Formats: sequence, structure tokens, C-alpha cells
Amino acid sequence: MSKSKIIITGGCGYIGSHTAVALQQAGFEVVIIDNLINSQENVLTRISEITGFKPQFEKVDCTNPISMKDIFAKNNDAVGVIHFAALKAVGESVAQPIKYYKNNINSLLNVLESMIEFKIPNLVFSSSACVYGEPEKLPVTEQTPLQPATSPYGATKVMGENIIKDTIRAHPELNATLLRYFNPIGAHPSGKIGELPNGIPNNLMPYITQTAAGIRDKLSIFGNDYSTPDGYCIRDYIDVNDVADAHIAAIQYMIKNKPGIETFNLGTGRGLSVIELIKAFESANNIKLNYIIAERRPGDVPELWANANLANQKLGWKAKRSLEDTLKSAWQWQKNVSDLK
Ligand code: NAD
Ligand code: UD1
Repeated sequence: MSKSKIIITGGCGYIGSHTAVALQQAGFEVVIIDNLINSQENVLTRISEITGFKPQFEKVDCTNPISMKDIFAKNNDAVGVIHFAALKAVGESVAQPIKYYKNNINSLLNVLESMIEFKIPNLVFSSSACVYGEPEKLPVTEQTPLQPATSPYGATKVMGENIIKDTIRAHPELNATLLRYFNPIGAHPSGKIGELPNGIPNNLMPYITQTAAGIRDKLSIFGNDYSTPDGYCIRDYIDVNDVADAHIAAIQYMIKNKPGIETFNLGTGRGLSVIELIKAFESANNIKLNYIIAERRPGDVPELWANANLANQKLGWKAKRSLEDTLKSAWQWQKNVSDLK
């Protein structure tokens, strides 16, 4: 029997590469579309070292409608598309909004048009917990009201969700799953793939590992005077491999149930403060981190964590990796990357 095929846009990136591995290991055939704007082609070799299969690779910009149609025409037997491809740096999106709207929105529109034209029925879309803004009640469920986006990046996620909802309404032959990721961290246990931030990291986890590796002098903790139990911001840090698994569950659910549109939070349900994450990293890896308390970062919400029960009920998915293993994998990956340089 031939394998079911999935097209992954942005499949050379952080979450996409882990999902490609998980899909191949679950018996799917994978086609990756990526323009490598924030990733490297050698990820494909690493994926094949882990799974034994090199994915089909198309170096294409998703904003190019003609190239996208060519690839979809060639792969019109695919059962689904997972659309990761997007630019994701919040600060850069404030400075260069047009770049973000062009890239993230045009890519999505091309994916949807090609799916309709070539009758590929199932879409998974990478949304973000940032759509909840600063919620009144925690943890957030999928019913929690969305807040206006605080950055052009966030706006592309809210718009993306709405574009997909309208498209599914007009095309009942399509199904879509909107996955709202909380804070993905960690790396593959093989140490062969992980997050590769460009330049100085914006996100906490790569900043921690680069500080531990001596690439950065010290970590600045953005604020310790929030109205949270210990004064530090709280987030829901989830292992990237758990996030990857949820995409497979979502694809399988759509194939089986043809549900139209579904939305799921992908979190652990556990809020951790910045200092709790730092302490857990130190203890998992037996390392002392150099950190200071700095000013709050504009735009940060004090606390955000998920109620992820819906994904458990409907997809049979829940986050299962331990925080300790996740933090060990993050450090192992950092050491491997440092060795490569
Ligand atoms: P990433 O930058 O590592 O991966 C994105 C990939 O998409 C990269 O390989 C990049 O080269 C590619 N890409 C970007 N624009 C493209 C285009 N026009 N055509 C083809 N390829 C293109 O990011 P990630 O962390 O893996 O995030 C994946 C998705 O999840 C993104 O949509 C992101 O917005 C979303 N998301 C990420 C997080 C997170 O914390 N990492 C949280 C919430 C949502
Ligand atoms: C950020 C983005 C969010 C995006 C998500 C995933 C902002 C405001 N939000 O979320 O839109 O979906 O990344 O890409 O950029 N921290 C420090 N020191 C650091 C870095 C971070 O103390 O050097 C703190 C932050 O204040 C925050 C926590 O660590 O409380 C997590 O930060 P980060 O990893 O950037 O994720 P988010 O801000 O949750």
C-alpha cells in the first residue's frame, strides 16, 4: 500500500522539521516546501538520518502562486497540508509590517487556492497563543475571547484564522485544524534537529541555552514585578515533539471525521514563571546560569497558559514529555550546534 502523502510548508524550520520526523515515523510520506529564509537545507539530511527517509524537497517561496500550483499539481494525491511557513519575529514585524503581511498572508492564500484547485482536503494551520492577548481568565480555552493583535505578526495569525474560517465555509469539501501553539521549546532527542535562531534570540529558551554555552554573557529577565505569585511572567512551555505529535493527531482526525473547522490549544496546561524555567534548566543540566533582572519588555503579557483538554478529548492528544527531558534536549542541541560552528 502506498503511504499517505502530506505537504509541509516551512518543513525545514524548527517545528516543521520535528513534525516531518514524526510524520515519517507514523508512516506518512512527506513533501517539504521551504524557501530557507529562516532554515538550512542540511536539515533534510538530518531528518533522513533520524528516520531513514529523505523528504521530497521543493525550494520554493510560498508567496509565488505559480510555483505553488506546480508543486501541488505534482502532488495532487496528498491527503493534507501542514502550513508552517511564516515569518515569526514579533519585533521585526513591528518595524516591517508589509514584509510580514505579504509573506504570511500571501503564503496562506496560495496554499488555500492550491488546495481547492487540486482537491487536497485537509489543512493544519500554525496559529499562536498570542491571539488571546491578555486574557481575563486563566487558563485559556478555545472559547476564550480573542484580543486585538499587538503586533503585525500576531495580526497575521488572527487574520489567517479568519481567512481559513471563511474559506471552509465556502468550500465544505475542505477541513482545517487551527493549532494555537503556546511556547514550544526543546529539541529532538537524537540531538540532530532543533531551533536555530538567527542572530540574538528573542525567545527565552534559546537565550538560556546560548547563555549557558557562553555565547551570551548573561540572560536578562524582563521584569520581576508582575502581579503573579513570584512576580515573574508565566508561560506554558511545551516540548516541540509534543507539538509535532499533535499535527499527526489532527491530520488523522480530519481524515476520519471530516469535521470542517476545529481549533485546539497546544499547551501542557502548566504555567511556569521565568525563574521557575531557569531553575528547572539549571537543575536538569547541572549548570549555573548568569542572569540579571531587567526592565519589563513592552508588549509582554503577565501570564498565559492553556487549557488543552479539548485536544485531549477530540484528538486523543496530550503533552507527555517531562520538563526535565525537554530541558536536557534543549541543552544537548545547543552543545551540538556550538560544536558545528
Ligand atoms: P521557523 O522560522 O523555524 O520555521 C518557519 C519555516 O518557514 C522556515 O524554515 C522558513 O524558511 C520557512 N518560510 C518562511 N516564509 C516562507 C515562504 N514565504 N515560503 C517558504 N518557506 C517559508 O519557525 P517555527 O518556530 O518552526 O514556526 C512555525 C510556525 O509556527 C510559524 O507559522 C510560526 O508563526 C508558528 N508559531 C511558532 C511559535 C514558536 O514559538 N516557535 C509559536 C506560535 C506559532
Ligand atoms: C513570543 C511572542 C509571541 C510568539 C511567541 C513564539 C512577544 C511579545 N511575544 O511569546 O507573539 O507567538 O514568542 O514565537 O515577543 N523573557 C525574558 N528574557 C529574555 C526573553 C524572554 O525574561 O531574554 C521572558 C519574557 O518576558 C516572557 C518569557 O520569557 O515572559 C517568554 O518569552 P518568549 O520566549 O519571547 O515568548 P513569549 O513572549 O511568550
